[in-house]
Amino acid sequence: MATLSDKKQFLGGQLFGSTYIPKGADLSGKTVVVTGANTGIGFECAKHLARLNVATLILGCRSLQKGNTAKNVITRNIDCKTTVIEVWELDLASYQSVLAFAERVRTTLPRLDAFIANAGVRLMQFTLAEGIETTITVNVISNMLLNLGVLPKLRETSAEHGIATTLTIVGSMMHIFGPPESIALPLDGKVIDTFDLLSDPATADMGPRYSLSKTLIHAVLSQLATVASRPGQHEQVIVNWVNPGWCASELDRHKTAPPLIQRLAFAVMGRTAEQGSHTLVHAVVAGKQTHGCYLSECRAKPESEFLRSEKGVEVRERLWQELMVRIKKISPETAGFIE
Ligand SMILES: NC(=O)c1ccc[n+]([C@@H]2O[C@H](COP(=O)([O-])OP(=O)(O)OC[C@H]3O[C@@H](n4cnc5c(N)ncnc54)[C@H](OP(=O)(O)O)[C@@H]3O)[C@@H](O)[C@H]2O)c1
Repeated sequence: MATLSDKKQFLGGQLFGSTYIPKGADLSGKTVVVTGANTGIGFECAKHLARLNVATLILGCRSLQKGNTAKNVITRNIDCKTTVIEVWELDLASYQSVLAFAERVRTTLPRLDAFIANAGVRLMQFTLAEGIETTITVNVISNMLLNLGVLPKLRETSAEHGIATTLTIVGSMMHIFGPPESIALPLDGKVIDTFDLLSDPATADMGPRYSLSKTLIHAVLSQLATVASRPGQHEQVIVNWVNPGWCASELDRHKTAPPLIQRLAFAVMGRTAEQGSHTLVHAVVAGKQTHGCYLSECRAKPESEFLRSEKGVEVRERLWQELMVRIKKISPETAGFIE
């Protein structure tokens, strides 16, 4: 569970930290993909990218209708005549949809300068998607399947243009609240796969499930950073992950109305989705010094004490192995991109 120092860092950042769009940022000529771009933080991020003159902006959305509405709002309200905006269908609850999206990125885009893996869900009811509890499928497994699926294009663009490209994953400060005891432990000498264990309706605890999904994704990202670029290939893919902060968005659409104390706390320290979206834009333009970093309030911060502990390091390694075994079963081709 979150330690005092974790909570202090979270509250300190949320209360006193600020977010910003780096001065002078310009994305002319660049191609950027944002997932979950039809609403909330992803939508605000897409608007900023358009303001920064991005040449091609792909909005990855599970509803084409919602995506097109978002696109129309952007083109109507932002002076971005040089930006080409496309809406592509993506449903992270379906591996087939994720693989098709990644293949489309690899085979049809002339270049990919940045990929922002923003889409995510917070569910309160237990459901399954692809045989795994849906929050875990969407926020963790599909998210990683997609990140790995677009890596070849990020590498190719980097090598061809002699630039660093960026893979930014939206994590959360909520990762500090993921209960470590929920992460699979050896039982009578037999290790149960974490993702299967979390998908048992009889034992699944949906209260902290969203936080746990963020603990899981944070746990594997430093390893992803180490394999994103291949040695000797003249490519550099920056991998960073961001906490946008506690923001007003549709994330809690499946929850009942929050208690008064939570509403008061939000009034004191909450951010708008627009403020939170600065952190995604910052991560995309901040450059090489952010490679392998967790960013919060637009600067590198330590992750939870648990993830940095000896046990946490052990869990990170095991989760990475489990995830790679699973991804290999889903798509040997995608797993092959980092082998
Ligand atoms: N809001 C916060 O306080 C906060 C804090 C820390 C981190 N975050 C993270 O920020 C990211 C954006 O969240 P948000 O707050 O902007 O929430 P949001 O308003 O609910 O937006 C989430 C986006 O993800 C999309 N999405 C959900 N399930 C999907 C699926 N199966 N396939 C494809 N797209 C899917 C949604 O599409 P639909 O509209 O079609 O559902 C929507 O576009 C998430 O990763 C979230 O965990 C949020």
